[in-house]
Order: sequence, then C-alpha cells, then structure tokens
Amino acid sequence: MLVPKNIVRLSKSIVGKEEAIAVSEVIEKDGYLGMGKVVQLFETEIAEYLGVPEEWVACVSSGTAALHLAIEAVTLPEDEVLVQSLTYLASFQAISAAMAIPVPCEVYQKNCLINLEDAFTRITEKTKVIMPVHYASFSGNMEKLYEFAGQNKLRVVEDAAHAFGCTYKKKKIGSFGDIVCFSFDGIKNITSGEGGCVVTSDQKVAQRIRDARLLGVVKDTEKRFSGERSWDFDVHCQGYRYHMSNIFAAIGRVQLQKLESEFAPKRRKFAELYRERLGPLKDIVFLETHLDEVVPHIQPLRIINSKFDMVQSCLKKNGVQTGMHYKPNHLLSYYGGGKVKLPVTEQLYNELLTLPLHPGLAENDVNFICDLMWSVLK
Ligand SMILES: Cc1ncc(COP(=O)(O)O)c(C=O)c1O
Repeated sequence: MLVPKNIVRLSKSIVGKEEAIAVSEVIEKDGYLGMGKVVQLFETEIAEYLGVPEEWVACVSSGTAALHLAIEAVTLPEDEVLVQSLTYLASFQAISAAMAIPVPCEVYQKNCLINLEDAFTRITEKTKVIMPVHYASFSGNMEKLYEFAGQNKLRVVEDAAHAFGCTYKKKKIGSFGDIVCFSFDGIKNITSGEGGCVVTSDQKVAQRIRDARLLGVVKDTEKRFSGERSWDFDVHCQGYRYHMSNIFAAIGRVQLQKLESEFAPKRRKFAELYRERLGPLKDIVFLETHLDEVVPHIQPLRIINSKFDMVQSCLKKNGVQTGMHYKPNHLLSYYGGGKVKLPVTEQLYNELLTLPLHPGLAENDVNFICDLMWSVLK
C-alpha cells in the first residue's frame, strides 16, 4: 500500500498561475474591481458553453444568492416550496430568506433525489415551486420532474450547485428547464472564488434578477456593463448587494476553460475508480448515477450493516478526510426540529459517507482509500 505523504483532502480549490494572472490583469490593467466588463464576458462565455442566449445568464455573488433571487422572483411571502430535506442548508436558507416556506420532502434512497410521490402528498394551495437538487451532480428523470411541475402548476428552481458541466440526455443542465442556479464556490466543478449564476429563459425573471443583484436599481447592470453608473435611477423591487465582482469573474473565466480539458475527466476518472474498486464490497452501496453525463462534484456512498463508524474512524486515523452530505434540514430547530418524520432521509443520514473527490487527487490517493476500506470491510 503506497501511503500518501500528506492528509488526503475531501475537497480542494484547484487554482493556479493562470487564475493569478487573470486577477492581476483586472487589478493592473482594468483597475475596476466591481461588476463590469469582466463579469459581462464571464456571462457571455457561460452562455456560449451552455448553448443559450447571453440574456439568460446572470452572475451573482454565490449559489445561495442565486437561489434566493430565483425564489424571490417567483413567490410571494408564505408561498410554499417543495424541497428535499437532504440538501445543503443553503437551499433552505435561500427559500426562507425570500420569506417563502421550505416544505421538506423525502428522497429516493437509490439516488438521493427528491421523491415526487412523497412531494405530491405535501402539496397545498400555497405550493408554488419545486426545488429539485442535483445531488452529487445527478439529475434523475428530468422529464418526469417537469411533467410533475406542469401537472401541479409549479415553477421549478433547480438547485444545480453540484451540476455545472453536467448533461441530461446530451443537453447541458441549464440549457433547458425553468430556472437553474449554479454555484461557483471554492470547491465546485468550477470556481470563481465565491460566486454563482442563474440561468433562465424567462426574461421577466432574468431582468428582475439582474436588477435585484444591484440593490434593485432598474437596469444598473446594463449601465455597469457599458462602464457607466446610474446616478438618477428608480427601484421596482427589493434588492441586495449580490452582484459578482470583476476579480471573481476573472477567476471563473479561466476555470471555465479548464473544465472540459482538465477538471471533468479527472473527476470522472476518480469516481469510476471508486466504483470499480469498492463496488464488490457488500457493505457499500453506490448511488445511482450516469458517469458519462455527470461531472461528479462529490463522492458520497452508503455504508450499510452498521459499519459506518469503523470505516470513518479508519480513514480518519490514516489521514483521509471524509464528509457527510448532508445533515437533513428538517432536523434543524429553525426548520421544525424533526417534527416531520422522513424515515428514508433519516436512515441515509446514518449511512452516507463522502469520500475525497477533486482534481488535485492522485490515482494513488484513491487506491490508498480503497485499500483502507477493503482492510476494514473484507
Ligand atoms: C446543494 C447546494 N445548494 C446550494 C449551495 C450554495 O452555494 P454557495 O456556496 O455558492 O452559496 C451549495 C454549495 O455548497 C450546495 O452544495
């Protein structure tokens, strides 16, 4: 067993010289650090990458901001949003920040995606939105999801924080659907340092989000992209300081260039290796996915038969970081403190362990982790 010299990290920002040069160009050449032409270029390049018109894309300061603005654009206070409890806290916080009510739903055990049969039982006359989460970058059955939304007259706000670069039936996530929100935080498939974007064909929603990210100032985006400021302006909606800075966009632009050539193949290769090596272990259950369609952001798996603690402590002892995606939100005091029972989600909470996955790993790191797991579980 080849033992890595350093701790094997769960996740890591993979940035280098090119990103540093891009940032210094903004500082030294452009000199304007706020939201300006570099953000506009990043939006155009995201649109080109997804194959959508550039008016569909609005970059913001985080994935959470993207979700918040998207929910606020399509709900009124007290409206209900169906969302899986097994998601990052940001999905729930974005909904409650918009003064809507997150309604925690079950997931399918096989893939940790929102369970539509369970969600159906939670619909009331106040339900206006469903927020599917592309958990571990997988999309599940998007036709079924949109059919469900159509039949129940719901808007769809996709939490695609894990899914930048992924496809569904050869179409890029973000190139179809209602409102799709991505995250570019430090460890995502691409990073802009911090950041995110909303992609939508609904131009009313897109314009509202463009305004709302700049304190609600009407058409301030258009002014800033042409190097001007709005001094005499009007405001039509609640706004926030949620715009992206030129500095962050400069990092994002370089990362976008690296996604297909460098990041995606590495992420897929390591995810495949985990499956190949650990698949035969009877106490391990992998989640359903399509590795040819996803750029896997995280590598969760289920450890069954009460072996979770053994595996986790062995990895920890040997310098391997692990994670847990996620503590279910319905258990948090602010979101009901466990009053609602979601048995599948609660069982998954005891079984899901996330292994290291990022482009900075070496094949040897993954083999080392697999050897350790074999030594505990064989
Ligand atoms: C599922 C999910 N939703 C939302 C977010 C929020 O994105 P950000 O960290 O960019 O605010 C994340 C980020 O970790 C996430 O994993």
